[in-house]
Amino acid sequence: MKEKVNSIKENAIKEIKAADTLQNLNDLRVMYLGKKGKLTEILRGMGSLSPEERPVMGALVNEAKEEVSNEIVKREEELKKIELNKKLEAEDIDITLPSKKTRRGSKHPLNRVIEEVEDLFVSMGYDVVSGPELETDEYCFERLNLPKGHPARDMQDSFYITTEYLLRTQTSAVQARTMMANKEKTPIRVIVPGKTFRREDDATHSHQFNQVEGLVVDKNISLADLKGTLEVFMKKMLGQNTELRFRPSYFPFTEPSYEVDVTCFKCGGKGCNLCKQTGWIELLGSGIVHPNVLRMNGYDPDEYSGFAFGVGLDRLAMFKYGITDIRLLYQNDVRFLKQFDRKDEENEIKY
Ligand code: DAH
Repeated sequence: MKEKVNSIKENAIKEIKAADTLQNLNDLRVMYLGKKGKLTEILRGMGSLSPEERPVMGALVNEAKEEVSNEIVKREEELKKIELNKKLEAEDIDITLPSKKTRRGSKHPLNRVIEEVEDLFVSMGYDVVSGPELETDEYCFERLNLPKGHPARDMQDSFYITTEYLLRTQTSAVQARTMMANKEKTPIRVIVPGKTFRREDDATHSHQFNQVEGLVVDKNISLADLKGTLEVFMKKMLGQNTELRFRPSYFPFTEPSYEVDVTCFKCGGKGCNLCKQTGWIELLGSGIVHPNVLRMNGYDPDEYSGFAFGVGLDRLAMFKYGITDIRLLYQNDVRFLKQFDRKDEENEIKY
């Protein structure tokens, strides 16, 4: 009987060690230690033993049961560990895998330029103002010294809605609005970024484009103020090496009037295909506010003077970023638009 107990115990321990799942192990527990288990059965069969033998056998079986039980606990721990490791392995996260890219929007080049212009002029004490895009003939032309029938109206092919209303051809319309709204209050220092519209459409002209207008009205404003302001403006936008050239020109609302050229930033003034070998690029219109315009909009020209300028923002953005077709600015192709985060870093002017 002793041998039987030992052989059951040894078998049990062998099988327990080989158990490869918790379920398996539990089956073994039932098989050896359960109510009808092999070791339990031996205890039951002890009735045939002599009274002296019984306690000896009892102790032996109980020892065997305890050993088997300890072995089960040990294997249980091991199997739990193995199962946990298996689970961890299956759920493993590979942190070296590249993540899915989150698509990020990017600021439109025109808005970048507009914001840069606004920041600069606000830092010089200007206000940023706006006006209606559907404008009256009165503000777009008449109050700017362009009466009906004036030949200079032909310079701008307008979209008329009625005989009185049109899509504004120039942000200069807001010059008159600002003066009328302030009437003799000075100083006026404003910039007006905004949309403008003309009947044209090719690689360098779009039927819709953007301008920024500048207007300063105060006492003793001179051409020197205009030149200094435009120099700061252009150097900030196009680089500190940019030089300006003032060419006499004609605009009905300024006298004298100038067109301002900047040194070609592609060739630095040496001459290239962008500047048509001249070294200069024509960029903006400007001048000293015409006395008629001051008078018509509530300012006495004997007391006040002012300067004004108008720049095409699309042109400025095209030069700044080397864009060759203005229409790209209005097609909103993301492949085009997303280039500018990087370009801005490259172009950043270091002081
Ligand atoms: N409004 C003019 C244009 O669209 C540009 C311009 C010229 C604006 C001279 C001005 C200025 O303020 O003084 O062509």
